[in-house]
Amino acid sequence: MAQTLTVTDNRNGKTYELPIENGAIRSVAFNQMKLDADDPLDHGLVCYDPASMNTASCKSTITYIDGDRGILEYRGYPIEQLAEKSTFLETAYLLIHGDLPTAVQFEKWKHDISDHTMVHENVKNFIGGFHHDAHPMGILLSTVGALSTFYSDANDIFDPEQRRMSVNRLIGKMPTIAALAYRHSKGFPYNQPDADLSYAGNYLNMMFKMLEPRYQPAPEIERALDVLFILHADHEQNCSTNTMRIVGSSHPDPYSATAAAIAALYGPLHGGANEVVLRMLHRIGTLENVPAFIASVKAGKERLMGFGHRIYKNYDPRAAIIKRMADQVLSITVTTPLLDVARELERIGLEDEYFVSRKLYPNVDFYSGFMYQAMGIPVEMFPVLFALARTAGWMAQWQESLLDPEQKIGRPRQIYLGKTRRDYVPMTERA
Ligand code: ACO
Repeated sequence: MAQTLTVTDNRNGKTYELPIENGAIRSVAFNQMKLDADDPLDHGLVCYDPASMNTASCKSTITYIDGDRGILEYRGYPIEQLAEKSTFLETAYLLIHGDLPTAVQFEKWKHDISDHTMVHENVKNFIGGFHHDAHPMGILLSTVGALSTFYSDANDIFDPEQRRMSVNRLIGKMPTIAALAYRHSKGFPYNQPDADLSYAGNYLNMMFKMLEPRYQPAPEIERALDVLFILHADHEQNCSTNTMRIVGSSHPDPYSATAAAIAALYGPLHGGANEVVLRMLHRIGTLENVPAFIASVKAGKERLMGFGHRIYKNYDPRAAIIKRMADQVLSITVTTPLLDVARELERIGLEDEYFVSRKLYPNVDFYSGFMYQAMGIPVEMFPVLFALARTAGWMAQWQESLLDPEQKIGRPRQIYLGKTRRDYVPMTERA
């Protein structure tokens, strides 16, 4: 079977044969399709793809998604197996290094990460400057950006050792900064990391330890949080990962690029969705209000947050795992009447023609909010936890992009539809 695409330009009858490689054609091949081959100002055709609906911006070996079949794999391992058998730190290693670690490699990795959980005292002073009701996601993104001023050597991004240090520091410090943001908002003293606890257990320790000499997380909560981190660790070329890559393509230090990725994740259409889901449920409040809310969604006045996905048009495999886990966690924690509202929304969403015909299914954020809430984590912290886990994926994708010889500074084209050239008119002469 010929791996080419034949294109005829009907403006001048010319035919071009474009190679197909990995199921893709190169967009730059359209540059040769000029109306007049001799006109140096004719730059040929461009591909118009707002929101990158059908444009691959990179080749990647990290995460595979088949949205129609509900498949998500990290480095070839199905998300279901990782959620059942792995830990977040092991999964982070897998994402960054490409393979599961041996026992020796894993011990070193754990040590390297926990070695970097502390933050400089000045970082705490920096966080102390935020207003008490500052959103923790704003604190996280500013503080991660500020880390670049603490580690100026991190600019040397083509030095493998500097990259290794930055990756370890970012994965190590993210839970600490997240917990500091929470403790600051409460006016509580900051807790030190505990190197004897797991990654998730230490995060819970830094969040919730009060006067007890040693914090011991409930094993069910610790495991559930770890699984949530695994589920959020990477998701190929989503908005924030694309931001990480495109900002990284101008070669700043990784702290600055990660701050940009956090900003992209902050939006309610992306990582901010789980926070908005809970706020939506609070607003609906009771089962009686569900029909009016659904009517308003179907009238196009608002969205059923936590439903729909750009890629998953069948179901989100992460949502299926969380839904199963939510039942276990909620059986040992305080239950909330909002769960009934969520279940009713889900029931309607899976049956109603509006949602079915648009292939709108619950996504990862529909249930994760409940899990976090049941763990005592406040709503504002939900996107922070998403960013914390996604840092592993961002690091893997950033390194892959930097080392890809085909990548350059990211710079999309545009179709200019504005005014044609006109002369400046002094203000006094303008109508
Ligand atoms: N509620 C109601 N209608 C919806 C929803 C929703 N949540 N999502 C999409 N639709 C409708 C749109 O109105 C549109 O209908 P139309 O064809 O009649 O105009 C149709 O479904 C297609 O929607 P698009 O916006 O084109 O879909 P897109 O792929 O661009 O959007 C997105 C995906 C942003 C996730 C969207 O489904 C959405 O806004 N969902 C709610 C926010 C959310 O849960 N985000 C989390 C995503 S997962 C993550 O980031 C981890």
